[in-house]
Amino acid sequence: MALDKHLKRFGFLYGSSPAMERLYQQLDKVSVSDATVLLAGESGTGKELIAQTIHQISPRADKTFIAVNCGAIPAHLIEAALFGHEKGSFTGAARQHLGYFEHASRGTLFLDEITEMPADMQVKLLRVLESGSFLRIGGSDEVKVDVRLIAATNRDVEVAVRQGSLREDLMYRLAVFPIRVPPLRERNGDVDLLAQHFLQLMNAKENTSKTFSRNSMEMIRSYTWPGNVRELKNVVQRAFILSTDTLVIEDHLSELWARKPTLHEGCLNFSVGTPLADAQREIILATLKHFSGNKRLTAEALGISLKTLYNRLKDY
Ligand SMILES: Nc1ncnc2c1ncn2[C@@H]1O[C@H](COP(=O)(O)OP(=O)(O)O)[C@@H](O)[C@H]1O
Ligand SMILES: [Mg+2]
Repeated sequence: MALDKHLKRFGFLYGSSPAMERLYQQLDKVSVSDATVLLAGESGTGKELIAQTIHQISPRADKTFIAVNCGAIPAHLIEAALFGHEKGSFTGAARQHLGYFEHASRGTLFLDEITEMPADMQVKLLRVLESGSFLRIGGSDEVKVDVRLIAATNRDVEVAVRQGSLREDLMYRLAVFPIRVPPLRERNGDVDLLAQHFLQLMNAKENTSKTFSRNSMEMIRSYTWPGNVRELKNVVQRAFILSTDTLVIEDHLSELWARKPTLHEGCLNFSVGTPLADAQREIILATLKHFSGNKRLTAEALGISLKTLYNRLKDY
């Protein structure tokens, strides 16, 4: 499986930035094996879509893929959810119930938010991974499983281990193949592509042919997307709904103006006693450069009016 150069797509994933190309190379290698994968990346970077892609290009593609969010299952139910229970194993267990492990048999099980799994369950999970078998709750016969496991976390793995929310032994077992998922701000050029992709999805669904105005595209490009691909997708969907004719313009992206753009890179250094006027000039010019000369975004970030910005720039 290779990157589709024309569509700039790999499996379910869109993007052709160097950061994504590196990711695709890793997915390519890992998909042919049965190795356990640990995906670490910020929320909204596409971890679930990556897990689906690994499954889809693996020899298990024609078997089941099951995604489980460990943070969404109450602690006391998670064991039954994963491993199932026998009839009569506890009050209310009227019949046998198979867990996700058995449902995903010969397929792939994706455990999202693995750090939210209670510590005692992490011990049990580790045992299953080592032995390849488990007991249903209340059962006495070992159930053999052939399941490919992919786990994910939006936390820093080392910090999670240090703080005790991920057991170190389980971490080593899961991270046979650790993959860092790059945040959207590291995917040069992909913001355009993804925005167009999500707009096309909406167009196809609604039978329209809306496009982005130049300025609206510029706004999308200059924003830093702390919520990553999920945020971008939501913003495009809302802009699509707000635009009544065939053009998506800046007004439809007004929610981006209200959000303070966070500058992840670029620092200025001043010595104590720098004249305020000098510091101000440096800040304004550096911010303008950061936003590729876009004055509206610059004024917004600096908390001054567009008029004030123009006046300052005239002085400089
Ligand atoms: N590279 C990508 N190409 C297309 N859509 C993507 C991509 N990455 C994420 N998405 C979409 O963005 C949303 C969030 O992705 P998701 O996999 O749920 O992120 P995470 O699990 O990391 O929080 C989903 O709707 C997903 O389909
Ligand atoms: Mg997720």
